[in-house]
Amino acid sequence: MVNTDTSSSPSGDMVLREVGRVHNEVKKPILTAGDDGIKLQENLDAVKRRVQRADDDISEIVIKEEMIDILHGIEDYSHLVVLYWAHLAPETSRGLTRVHPMGRSDFPLVGIFGTCSPARPNPVLVTVVRLRERKKNVLRVSGLDAVDGSPVIDIKPFVREFYTREDVRIPWWMQRICDEVRGDGSSTGEHRYEADHKAEGHRRGGSSFTMHDPKLVFDELKLTTGDVFLDLGCGPGDYAMYAAGCVGEMGTVYALDRVDFHITSLKRRIGAEGASHVQAAVVDITDRLPVDDACVDVCLLATVLHIPDVARRAKALCGEIRRVLKPGGRLAVIECHKKARPYGPPEHIRMFPAEVKELMSQYGFRVLSEVDLGFNYLIQFTAK
Ligand SMILES: C[S@@+](CC[C@H](N)C(=O)[O-])C[C@H]1O[C@@H](n2cnc3c(N)ncnc32)[C@H](O)[C@@H]1O
Repeated sequence: MVNTDTSSSPSGDMVLREVGRVHNEVKKPILTAGDDGIKLQENLDAVKRRVQRADDDISEIVIKEEMIDILHGIEDYSHLVVLYWAHLAPETSRGLTRVHPMGRSDFPLVGIFGTCSPARPNPVLVTVVRLRERKKNVLRVSGLDAVDGSPVIDIKPFVREFYTREDVRIPWWMQRICDEVRGDGSSTGEHRYEADHKAEGHRRGGSSFTMHDPKLVFDELKLTTGDVFLDLGCGPGDYAMYAAGCVGEMGTVYALDRVDFHITSLKRRIGAEGASHVQAAVVDITDRLPVDDACVDVCLLATVLHIPDVARRAKALCGEIRRVLKPGGRLAVIECHKKARPYGPPEHIRMFPAEVKELMSQYGFRVLSEVDLGFNYLIQFTAK
C-alpha cells in the first residue's frame, strides 16, 4: 500500500506522495512477482506484441487536480521519465534478492538491482515515455509499460544529455531479452554485433560475446583458479573480464588489442571492478607478444583470426602463441560460421572450421575439441 500521507513523518521514515494514477487498457502485468521469484504471464509472442504496441498505445496519467501547477511547462518536452509504483507486486516479493530475469531458468540468477524486475525492496518502476498531449491535469503518453491503476510517484523531463554517452555494456541475457522482445533479430545478439561494427566507425569492433551464452564457451575452456589466460585481440574485453572471474585473484589475465580506445575503456572497467589481476595493453598481436615463455594455460583468439592482416601473419602469431603456452596449454579459436549475414564480417573473409584446422595444423597445432555455438564455433588446439 502506498502511503499518501502528505505530512512529514515524525519518525523520519520516508513517505511517498502519490501524485496521480495511470489509466489504460492494460489490466495485467507482463511479469508477476511472488515470494519464489518472478513469472512471465504470457508467452513470448504475446509479450513481444505488448512491448511493440507500447510505443503506440496511449496511457493517460491523471495528476491530482489540486497538484495541477506541478505540470506547468511540461508540454515543452517531447519525452518524460515516469516513476510509478508496481502496486500489484505482492508484499512478499519485496524480500527477494535474486531472480531469474523474466522468470526464465535459462538465464542466470541475478541480483534484483541487476534487473528491471517488479520484485524489489521498493517496487518503483521507471519508463521513458513520449508526451503526446497535455490536457489540464491529464498527460497522454505512449510507451508506458505500467498497468491500469498504477500510482505515479514522480515525473521528470527526459534530457538526452543527462545520460551517459560512453560505451554502454549490458550482460548477454539482457541483450537477448532486448533482441527477442524487439523481435527484429535473432535471440543471439546479431544486432549487437552489427551495431558494434557500425558504431563509431568500427572503433568498437564486433564482439561475439553476446552472440552466444558465454558460459558455453567457458564451460569448454575449463579455467581454474590460478590459471593464466591470454586474450589476443580482446576488443572491449568481455571475454577477458569473464575469464578474470574464473581464474580469480590467484590467476592472471592478459588482454591485448591494438586499438587504444578498447584498452583505455577496459582499464577503466578493471579499475571499477577492482580486477587488478587483469593486465590490459595496447599491442599489435602480430608482433612479439609481451608475455613470458611457457606461462599461459589458455590463449583465446575470439573472432580475430579471420581479420586479413592477422590471417596473413598467422605463422608468426602461431609461433608466438606456442612460445607463451605452457606445455599442454590450449589455444581456443572462436570464429563466425561462413555464411552470408547482414552483420559481422563479410562472408568472403569468414573461415570454415576446416580452414581454421588446416591453418593451425600447418603452424604446429592439433585439434583437441570442437563445439558449435550457433552463429559461431569454438575449436581448441594444443601444440603438436
Ligand atoms: C571482431 S573484434 C573481437 C574482439 C574480441 N575478441 C571479442 O570477441 O569480443 C576483433 C578485435 O581484434 C583486434 N585486432 C585486429 N587486428 C589486431 C592486431 N594485429 N593486433 C591486436 N589486435 C588486433 C581489433 O582491434 C578488434 O578489437
